[in-house]
Amino acid sequence: MANRYFEQLNYTLANEDAGLELNLLPENCPHVVAVCGSGSRIIPLLAKKPLKISVVDISPVQLALCELRIETLRTYSHEEFLFFWGYEKGMPGTPAQVRKTMFQRLNLSPRSKSMLESIFEKNLWKPILLSGRWEKTFIFFSKIAKAILGKRRIEGLFACSSIEEQKKYVRDVIQGWRWNLLLSIVGNARTFNALLYRGSFPENNTGMSYLEYYSQAYQRLFDQDLARKNFFLQLTLLGELRFLEGFPIEADSTVFEAAKKALPNVSIEWVSEDLVSWLAAQKSIGFVSFSNVASYFKGNRESAFLSEIRSGLSETSLVVLRHYLHIPYQLDRSGFIEITDKYRALIAREKVQMYRVEVLERRES
Ligand SMILES: C[S@@+](CC[C@H](N)C(=O)[O-])C[C@H]1O[C@@H](n2cnc3c(N)ncnc32)[C@H](O)[C@@H]1O
Repeated sequence: MANRYFEQLNYTLANEDAGLELNLLPENCPHVVAVCGSGSRIIPLLAKKPLKISVVDISPVQLALCELRIETLRTYSHEEFLFFWGYEKGMPGTPAQVRKTMFQRLNLSPRSKSMLESIFEKNLWKPILLSGRWEKTFIFFSKIAKAILGKRRIEGLFACSSIEEQKKYVRDVIQGWRWNLLLSIVGNARTFNALLYRGSFPENNTGMSYLEYYSQAYQRLFDQDLARKNFFLQLTLLGELRFLEGFPIEADSTVFEAAKKALPNVSIEWVSEDLVSWLAAQKSIGFVSFSNVASYFKGNRESAFLSEIRSGLSETSLVVLRHYLHIPYQLDRSGFIEITDKYRALIAREKVQMYRVEVLERRES
């Protein structure tokens, strides 16, 4: 894929809530395929004990970051994992030196080790959890949010202790002209292209204006659960992860321990290739977590990618697509049935809500 945007370290935390895939993936699936990104979707998938998982990304550095996640899962306790990644601050000793020593103990491939070492060196061995360009952009947006809404209004949102209180607070204090101004400034192609996507931001074909799209997505998040239980709201409005109860699912102790226990029996394959071409050459894949890779497709690929990958999937395998602002035009879904409606309640609990989720099942017609 000739897309310069995907050549750099863009994602380090999570821009999708892998809790959705964790619930969709059946246990003991023979072969799971997942787009890598930050790699934080992989630990939750391991918790479902697949026999094999292929982690695919065109970006070598994103794959290296995922390898780091897996090796820290294998080597360290939950508490040490949280410290290493920067979810939690406290560990005895000088934190940066401790992190460096922990890194040196890991059994990483030489290529990943040298890529990651230079990232950590530049970062003085501080956590890299929020170092992706995507994360930095949203931290910058949180500063604009503070300037427009005021720090006190934002802090008040995270202090709400019931969903009824939060809904009223959002209506009375957050929403209004300031909120609309904020969404209009940050939520549009020009801002995202200038700060992050370098011209690759998906083309909005949803029929909604950007303001409608982002207003509705945030409304779903405000209605769904307490802001403090949501990592995406914490990142975009506070500019940091402050509340443990809202950390991404990889940081959950039950998920972490289940993944750690499963890890020795899972074969992990790293694939630095275009997802569609690679899938087309496979056989009997049982589950594909596609991320929103298709939001960036253009031309024939946009309408034909499902037919390209069809032969690589086994009968009844699931494909989970996320569409961000862009629904693939004239997508040929033959050979698949759409079963999204079965999972509406699960999708409504997804903690980013910026995506239109589509779940497809492979079926011979
Ligand atoms: C599609 S991005 C989506 C992240 C986020 N939701 C967004 O839209 O900014 C997730 C990962 O997919 C990778 N990626 C993009 N296109 C790909 C392709 N054709 N094949 C394999 N990986 C791809 C990127 O390098 C990135 O790490």
